Amino acid sequence: MASKRHFFVLLSVLYASIQVSMAGDPDILTDFVPPPILFGPLGGNYFTFNGFRALVGAPFPTTFKVLKASMIEFPALEGQSVSYAVLQFPNGTVNPPHTHPRASELLFVLMGSLQVGFVDTTNKLFTQTLQQGDIFVFPKGLVHFQFNCNTTNSALALSAFGSANPGTVKVPSAVFNSTIDDQVLALSFKTDVATIQKIKSGLSV
Ligand SMILES: *[C@@H]1O[C@H](CO)[C@@H](O)[C@H](O)[C@H]1NC(C)=O
Ligand SMILES: *[C@@H]1O[C@H](CO)[C@@H](O)[C@H](O)[C@H]1NC(C)=O
Ligand SMILES: *[C@@H]1O[C@H](CO)[C@@H](O)[C@H](O)[C@H]1NC(C)=O
Repeated sequence: MASKRHFFVLLSVLYASIQVSMAGDPDILTDFVPPPILFGPLGGNYFTFNGFRALVGAPFPTTFKVLKASMIEFPALEGQSVSYAVLQFPNGTVNPPHTHPRASELLFVLMGSLQVGFVDTTNKLFTQTLQQGDIFVFPKGLVHFQFNCNTTNSALALSAFGSANPGTVKVPSAVFNSTIDDQVLALSFKTDVATIQKIKSGLSV
């Protein structure tokens, strides 16, 4: 009986560890991934990202803006399964529906408030109005958005991702600003080509 219980404990630990190892980017076989070409000894600088200093004392943007610290901007993140993005929402702006194919997202509202939501695979919408100090999780791969509906105040949020390269698929541009044939879109949206072209012309400017 005891050995049977042990077996189940072992099995569930094994299962949990598989889940953990599958939760992030592929594991690397070294402590970190150094730059491909080294000009001198590797130091703390390589593990430091200064890109967000641009935010300090800078005027708030007039349109929605994302500042990323992913593997592309910060190569030391390769293999570490983490990254950041700072999201700046002037009053009344939206981060349109999009997905991150490789990561879940943990959004922390630093300033202002945000209306957020995601849609699961059954098309159920989960939405919330977040206040300064709140944290919301967007499950990996699901379509989601953030909206600062406040007409006078801007909002600022910090998003953490469970991948060094979460990727972003913007729904409007993936569907209407790629080169998918108009006929395919017209049939898919049960409309005519002229309507599709009208939507497309709005996105391409
Ligand atoms: C906008 O934000 C300010 C400051 O938090 C708040 O006092 C005001 O009620 C908000 N307005 C709306 C329309 O939500
Ligand atoms: C809110 O946004 C509008 C532009 O949509 C801008 O003209 C206005 O100055 C903003 N209000 C504040 C208080 O920032
Ligand atoms: C649509 O595509 C064009 C050409 O690739 C690009 O310049 C433009 O920024 C895109 N617009 C949007 C809204 O993604």
